[in-house]
Amino acid sequence: MINDLANRKGELFPGNIIDCRHENNNFYFYCDNNVILHVKAITDKIIRFRYAVDGDFPKDFSYALSETYQPEEPSLEFKEKTDHFRITTNRIIITIWKENLSVRILDKSGTILIEDERGFHWEYDRETGNNVVKISKKVQSGEHYYGLGDKAFNMNLRGRRVQNWGSDTYGYGKNSDPLYKNIPFYIGLHQKIAYGMFFDNSFRSYFDFAAERSNVTSYWAQGGEMNYYFIYGPELVEVTAQYTNLTGKPELPPLWALGYHQCKWSYYPEAKVKEIAAGFRERQIPCDAIYLDIDYMEGFRCFTWSKEYFPDPKRMVQELAQAGFKTVVIIDPGIKVDKDYWVYQEGIANDYFCHRADGPLMKGSVWPGLCNFPDFTRPAVREWWAGLFKELMAAGIKGVWNDMNEPAVFEQGTFPDDVRFDHDGHACSHKKAHNIYGMQMARATYMGVKQYAFPNRPFTITRSGYSGVQRFASTWTGDNIASWEHMWLANIQCQRLSISGYSFAGSDIGGFIETPSGELYIRWLALGVFHPFCRTHSSGDHGDQEPWSFGEENTALARKFIQLRYQLMPYMYTTFWQYVTHGTPMLKPLVYLDQYDSETYLRMAEFGLGENLLICPITQPEADGRWLYLPRGNWYYFWNDELTAGGKEVWAEAGLDRIPMYVQAGAVIPMYPVRQYVGEKEIEELTLHVYFKNGAHQSTLFEDAGDGYGYVNGECKVKKFATAGTTKSLNVQQNTTGNFTPMYTTYKIILHGLPFAVTVAEINDQSIAISAIEKDEVLNTYTIYTQPDFQTLTVN
Ligand code: GLC
Repeated sequence: MINDLANRKGELFPGNIIDCRHENNNFYFYCDNNVILHVKAITDKIIRFRYAVDGDFPKDFSYALSETYQPEEPSLEFKEKTDHFRITTNRIIITIWKENLSVRILDKSGTILIEDERGFHWEYDRETGNNVVKISKKVQSGEHYYGLGDKAFNMNLRGRRVQNWGSDTYGYGKNSDPLYKNIPFYIGLHQKIAYGMFFDNSFRSYFDFAAERSNVTSYWAQGGEMNYYFIYGPELVEVTAQYTNLTGKPELPPLWALGYHQCKWSYYPEAKVKEIAAGFRERQIPCDAIYLDIDYMEGFRCFTWSKEYFPDPKRMVQELAQAGFKTVVIIDPGIKVDKDYWVYQEGIANDYFCHRADGPLMKGSVWPGLCNFPDFTRPAVREWWAGLFKELMAAGIKGVWNDMNEPAVFEQGTFPDDVRFDHDGHACSHKKAHNIYGMQMARATYMGVKQYAFPNRPFTITRSGYSGVQRFASTWTGDNIASWEHMWLANIQCQRLSISGYSFAGSDIGGFIETPSGELYIRWLALGVFHPFCRTHSSGDHGDQEPWSFGEENTALARKFIQLRYQLMPYMYTTFWQYVTHGTPMLKPLVYLDQYDSETYLRMAEFGLGENLLICPITQPEADGRWLYLPRGNWYYFWNDELTAGGKEVWAEAGLDRIPMYVQAGAVIPMYPVRQYVGEKEIEELTLHVYFKNGAHQSTLFEDAGDGYGYVNGECKVKKFATAGTTKSLNVQQNTTGNFTPMYTTYKIILHGLPFAVTVAEINDQSIAISAIEKDEVLNTYTIYTQPDFQTLTVN
């Protein structure tokens, strides 16, 4: 028994199992030195492992987990053998060895998925009384590692050590670590089988992927519990989807949030904001949202307006709204110490701010000067904070942007370790609360914006966050630089966030620090329009960064790419709906598209967007194309319909007016006409681009009002398009479910890549005149107009 603190030196290990208890899905293994392992089978594929070292478990609490997740009950078998216990689910077999409490998990075919090396062990930290909890696992043959949020590393993490301690990292670079977010979740892939590992511990944590010892992967945290979730795939997409179900999915955003956003630090005064807004409309460059950075406030006091720059905010916001712009404002956590400022007064009067260990308030400088900081881990503080948005929302603000919530302070980067937090009734220090602070701020903001936006949907964005933050806000990758390397990084970071459960992400297009060349801006924008969150943002001291700031030719290109985003909006929205309903990552790195092809394991430029598109940005100057790896299957080059078989490297020709972009054969891609903003005009016609495949394929389209909560009650439509092609025919079937009737009355169906000349066409078994079909001789496409309720279309 380890009950003498003097003996708690160095690394400590579990003893041998002497007892075991089992209740439904819960299994408790008791060791002879007071260590307990609690194994909980959440589903057949998700198993939680939780260790206690002092003979008892503290109260169970996590900010990460979704409150609405309804796991499917596992079916379990439990056996005791001479030297081990065995828990078998429908999908995996968990072995717990009596000696040392060592764990191993196999799939049903007997392949080892994970296996403890030294397993769970810990060190007692006298200074804090915390246990540094550690676990080490054997690296399986040919194992690769992915995930962990916004890390600025190569996609594949093997050979890396990474840290989770959210940090304000202005001008970070490739391999800088840690960055703003804390997502202690990774995905392992070996023998073509994928699994996930979520270490739900908010203390400063580290992951070592075969870096220190080439045959060992380990992770540890500076306090808290060894508490991890093993997630079985075997598909990569399935691993991310289950992690996302566990930690929660966001609601559907308002459709306009998938439009183009324009930001700068800062647009002021009002005349400047208006000029920028008008600049979009004059040039017919679509844009939905315009941002006000910190200068809109009075001396950077949150929830105030500068009287000089914005004398009548409500009027301005309304005028912008009439021109189709939704106004988004920044709100930071730091509340200026100012006895005459109402937010400060309320915070002080109700004791809402964080305290140091010995009692004084936590003080630190941010933009407004000396500030106090709300303890967002207290329910009453979150309620108060949510209520503060009332006036802003009444002024017509449509979205709120949370920044500096790592939390950042100028003096020493972040709060000192001794700062106290309520932690929802589990009082703790900054060591434990640091990594979840930003998420709880985003949560409080979301509560307020949601309440006052109702019956419309809220829009929020946050810089920092912990696992589960995706429920409360979209995000961006922070203060990047206008360089080609940073554009390359933006591509990796957004994919990595997406497979880490956080799809609604984007980068500051063109770079936040410094000024991009026109070429870099256009290449970056061409990538950004395929990210779920699409915003140009830059720091004011480095020149202009509006889409028209780089000469006429580039303005035309910027317009073209932003228009493409608006055309693809129904596709992006459908992809978002799939994320919201199934947890499917919106962006998928190449390996997620084909984990059975090891060529995909180390590549990272190419990514899938939704079901049917493959994108690969050009991240070098003066290129007229690039080599990329096309996954197996047949793909159409979007720009000229050229058909290429994948499973090999291909050259994609892409001057500045293109981004390498492929459509999967068999796909149906829905497109809207270009609008200058969502809601500008009714959509009268939906275009369906159908790409011929010799074989069968299925595509999805989700439609609803694009705002409000009707979809929750079934006011939405899910359309499934099944295509089936032969060398002589193509059939398209449409199956719909749900109750929603879009405004448009026509489908414009464009058939691409038919290997035969159309002589007969039938819709719902009624033949249509060939003369009614438009043929494009250059692209070899056929266009047919029909009703949105058609069921089957056949051409041969
Ligand atoms: C931080 C943010 C940046 C913002 C600036 C001023 O640097 O990351 O996006 O513009 O603060 O608020």
